Amino acid sequence: MIGAKTILEFGTLGGYSTIWLARALPEGGRLVTLEANPDYAAVAADSIASADLGDVVEVRVGPALEQLPQLANEGAGPFDLVFIDADKANTPDYFAWSLEHVRPGALIIADNVIRDGRLVDHDDEDPAIVAQRRFHEQLAAESRVEATTVQTVGGKGYDGFSVARVV
Ligand SMILES: C[S@@+](CC[C@H](N)C(=O)[O-])C[C@H]1O[C@@H](n2cnc3c(N)ncnc32)[C@H](O)[C@@H]1O
Repeated sequence: MIGAKTILEFGTLGGYSTIWLARALPEGGRLVTLEANPDYAAVAADSIASADLGDVVEVRVGPALEQLPQLANEGAGPFDLVFIDADKANTPDYFAWSLEHVRPGALIIADNVIRDGRLVDHDDEDPAIVAQRRFHEQLAAESRVEATTVQTVGGKGYDGFSVARVV
């Protein structure tokens, strides 16, 4: 969509999305992926190596919010694309940080933002749901992005993802 060369991913799990994203990078592209669980990170690192993407992808282990200051200190970014798919309660914080570390024209994509429609149930106080409402309020109020949320229905149920383009 935008010819991304630098990608930041929140939530690696086994590296499935990581590998898809990394395969789309051009020569010289880089992807940093943040994973809290060391066991998952190890599985992902193996899978990424098997996919011959070890030189493209860096898996960083630890809670993402704790890793972000280090990333910023290292001067990481600006990223062309961010994929937010970690602990859902922190999506708004990941979005806010990302907005400050992407280039104009970048995309920020967040997964699992509809949650079986619970998004619109204001009595639902689950932190992961409340966070998706807050995230949409951020999108609506933020003049630096144009965004849309796409609802999906599939084998894993009713959910959706948001795509925000940074202007
Ligand atoms: C939905 S899964 C990621 C799936 C992966 N992006 C994919 O599509 O193949 C969410 C991942 O986020 C990780 N996670 C949870 N809390 C986290 C945190 N605070 N920081 C970083 N990763 C976290 C989980 O361990 C889990 O592996």
